[in-house]
Amino acid sequence: MSRPYAWVQMSFTMHCIVAYDKKREVNMAVAANDLAKISKELESSSPQEILKKSFELTKGVKVISISLQLEDNILLDMLLKADLDFRAYTLDTGRLHESTYLMMDRIRFKYGIELEVYHPNHEAVEKLMREKGLYSFKESFVNRKECCYIRKVEPYSRAMKGASLWVTGLRRTQSEDRANTPIIEDVGGLIKVSPIVNWSWERVMQYAEENKVPKHPLYDQGFVSIGCDPCTRAVEPGEDIRAGRWWWENADHKECGLHMKSS
Ligand code: ADX
Ligand code: SF4
Repeated sequence: MSRPYAWVQMSFTMHCIVAYDKKREVNMAVAANDLAKISKELESSSPQEILKKSFELTKGVKVISISLQLEDNILLDMLLKADLDFRAYTLDTGRLHESTYLMMDRIRFKYGIELEVYHPNHEAVEKLMREKGLYSFKESFVNRKECCYIRKVEPYSRAMKGASLWVTGLRRTQSEDRANTPIIEDVGGLIKVSPIVNWSWERVMQYAEENKVPKHPLYDQGFVSIGCDPCTRAVEPGEDIRAGRWWWENADHKECGLHMKSS
C-alpha cells in the first residue's frame, strides 16, 4: 500500500469514527456504555415502559417497521395508545401474500395512520429477474440472501434514513438466533428496541384479543411466522416457529439480513 493511499484510508477511517460518534451523540441522551445496563434494568419492565424509556433515551425521529405480523401490530397499538410521535413503515418486497397487502389497508384504516410503504429498487429487481429468473432464491443460500438484500435490506436502509430509534417486534422464543436479543441495543449508531422480546406467543395473542388488534388471516391457516409468499409456509403443530420460513435451507440460517447481531 503506497503512503498517500494509506493516509487517505486512515483519514477516511477517522472520518467514519468521528461521523459514527457524532451520529451516536446526536441520537442518544445517554452514553453508549450505559445502554447495556439500561437494557438489563428493563428486563422486568412492561413493553409500554420500555417504549417510553427508549423514546426518552433517543433524540430525533423514531420509527416502527411493520411486517403486518401480530407482534408489530400490537406494538403499533401500544405506541398510538401512549400518544408517542413516530413514523411507521412496511417493506413491500413485491412477493408478499395477497392477504398481507389487505392487512396493510386494514391497519391503515383502523388506526388512521400513514403507513409508509417502501419498495425495492426497480433496476436491481429488473436485473435480478433478467439474469436469474423469478425463483433464484430457491437455488442457493447466496441467491436467497441476494434476493432478501434487494427486496428487504436495501429498502430498509432507505426507510431508516435519518431515524434515531427503531422499534421491532422480535421475540426471543422465535429462534435460537434471537434467544439473546437485548431489549435495547446500538446497531451502528441507530438504537434498536424490542419491547416484547420477553413475551410468549400466547401473551401476544392475549394483548391482541383484549385490544382488538387486527390479526393476519394466515395465522388461522397454520402459519406462525409470515414473510414473502414463496418463502413462507404453514407449519405442523410442534414444529419450530421459523420452520415455515425458507424451509428448504439449513435451519441455522433463518434470517433475511435485517436483524444482524450488534456484537
Ligand atoms: S425476518 O427478518 O425474518 O423477515 P420477521 O418476519 O421475524 O423478520 O420479523 C421481525 C421484525 O422484522 C418485525 O417485527 C419487523 O420489525 C421487521 N420486519 C420483518 N419484515 C418486515 C417487513 N416486510 N416490513 C417491515 N418490517 C419488517
Ligand atoms: Fe426474496 Fe424470499 Fe427473501 Fe422475499 S423472503 S426477499 S422472496 S428470498
